[in-house]
Amino acid sequence: MNPSPSSQTWSQRFETALHPAIAQFNASIGFDIELIEYDLTGSQAHAKMLAKTGIISPEEGEQLVQGLEMIRQEYRRGEFNPGVEEEDVHFAVEHRLTQLLGDVAKKLHTARSRNDQVGADTRLYLRDQIHHIQTQLRQFQQALLSLAQANVETLIPGYTHLQRAQPLSLAHHLLAYVDMIQRDSARLADLLHRVNISPLGCGALAGTPFPIDRHYTAELLGFESAYANSLDGVSDRDFAIEFACAASLILVHLSRLSEEIILWASEEFSFITLTDRCATGSSIMPQKKNPDVPELVRGKTGRVFGHLQSLLVMVKGLPLAYNKDFQEDKEALFDTVNTVRACLQAMTILLEEGLEFRPTRLADAVASDFSNATDVADYLAAKGVPFREAYNLVGKVVKTSLSANKLLKDLTLEEWRSLHPAFESDIYDAIAPRQVVAARNSVGGTGFDQVRQALAAAAERLKAEAEN
Ligand code: ARG
Repeated sequence: MNPSPSSQTWSQRFETALHPAIAQFNASIGFDIELIEYDLTGSQAHAKMLAKTGIISPEEGEQLVQGLEMIRQEYRRGEFNPGVEEEDVHFAVEHRLTQLLGDVAKKLHTARSRNDQVGADTRLYLRDQIHHIQTQLRQFQQALLSLAQANVETLIPGYTHLQRAQPLSLAHHLLAYVDMIQRDSARLADLLHRVNISPLGCGALAGTPFPIDRHYTAELLGFESAYANSLDGVSDRDFAIEFACAASLILVHLSRLSEEIILWASEEFSFITLTDRCATGSSIMPQKKNPDVPELVRGKTGRVFGHLQSLLVMVKGLPLAYNKDFQEDKEALFDTVNTVRACLQAMTILLEEGLEFRPTRLADAVASDFSNATDVADYLAAKGVPFREAYNLVGKVVKTSLSANKLLKDLTLEEWRSLHPAFESDIYDAIAPRQVVAARNSVGGTGFDQVRQALAAAAERLKAEAEN
C-alpha cells in the first residue's frame, strides 16, 4: 500500500497513518496556502544561507532555489493545488520539491523548523499587506480631502450628544477623519518595525548546532533585524495582535463615518443623497434607497474586533515556546486584512462617487436653530460682560424665543437691548451662520482660515507620502 504523504512526513517513530478525521482537523493547508509565495521566498533565502555557510554545497543551494522557483510558477499557473493530505503549506512545498528534485530537496529543512518557518512566512505576508493598507489609507484620505476642498464654505450643523451644538465648515468635519486616518497610518508604520523581525534560525525553539548566518537570511528577506532570543522568536505573536488592534481602530474610524453617513442619508437629516452607484433598493418598498455600504462597514467592524479578541485569548495561557494553538492565528489575521482592505476600498468609492451633499438643505439647517447661542454670549463677553452672566442671559432669551416660536435672528434690536444695553446692530452679523463659523479661528478651529491652512497641510503631507 502507498503510504499517504502525512504518514511519510513523520520520522519512523510513527507506524500508522493519522485517522482521516484527525488529519483533516490538524490540517491548515485550506487556509495557509495564502502564505505560499512567502514560504517559497523564505525557503529560497534559507537555501542560499545554507550554501553560503557551507552547510550544503553551492550547487545544491542553486538546485533548491530553482526548484522552489518552479513551484512558484506551477502555483501561479494554477497547477499546484495541494490537498489536505499535505497538512500545511510548508509540507506541501517540501513534498513537491522532493518530487521535482529528488534527494537534494531533503536537505532544505536542515537547521530549520516549521516553527521559525511559519513565523517568517506570516511576518512577510503581513509586511506586504501593511504596505497595501497604507496605500489604501492614503487613497481614502485623498477622497476625504477632495470632498473637503470642495466644501470649505459649505456649513453643516455640528453636534455634541447628537444635539445641535455649533455650525461647522463641512471641510472641517471631513478633515477630522483625515487626521484620524493619519494616526492609523502612523500606528501601522510603527508596528511594522515589530512585524519586520526575522525568527529564522530560532529553529524549533532553541537554535541549531549548524553554523547558520541568521543575519544573512534576515537581510535577504528585507527584515530589519533578527530575534535576539530563540524562544521569543518562535513564540511571539505580539505583532499579529498589534496589527489586529491597529486594524480595529481603522474600522472604528470607518464605522463612525459610516454611522454619520447613514444618519445624513435619512429623511430626518437629509444632508446627503446617495447616488445609484453605491446604494441599493428594497425588494418590497419601491421608494427606498438603502445605505448598504456604510451599514456593512459598520457591521464588519465587530468581526475585526472579534479577531483581536481571539488572538489575545489564543496567546494568553500558552507556555513557551511554539504551541499548535498558533495555527489559529492565520484565519484571524487573513480575515482581518481582507476585511480592512475591502472596507477601505468600499468607503473610498462611496466618498468618491456614492454621495452628494445637499447644500440648500444644509444651509437651511444651520440657519434655523439655536446653534448661534454661544455666539451671543461670546458677543457680550467680548464687550466686557462676564461670560457666565452672558451665558445665563442668553439661556433666558432662548427660552422666551422658543415659546414665541422665534429664532435669535428674529429678535428686534429693542428686544436685544432690553436684555442688555451692550447689544448693537452688529449683533445680527455676529450670529449669522457664516460669521459664526468664520469667527472660530483659533488654532485647529472651524474658522475658514484655519480650515484652509489645515487643507493645505494635509494635501502637502499626502503628496509627500505618496512620493515616498
Ligand atoms: N501549520 C503550522 C502552523 O500554522 C506550522 C507549524 C507547525 N509546527 C509544529 N511544531 N507542529 O502553526
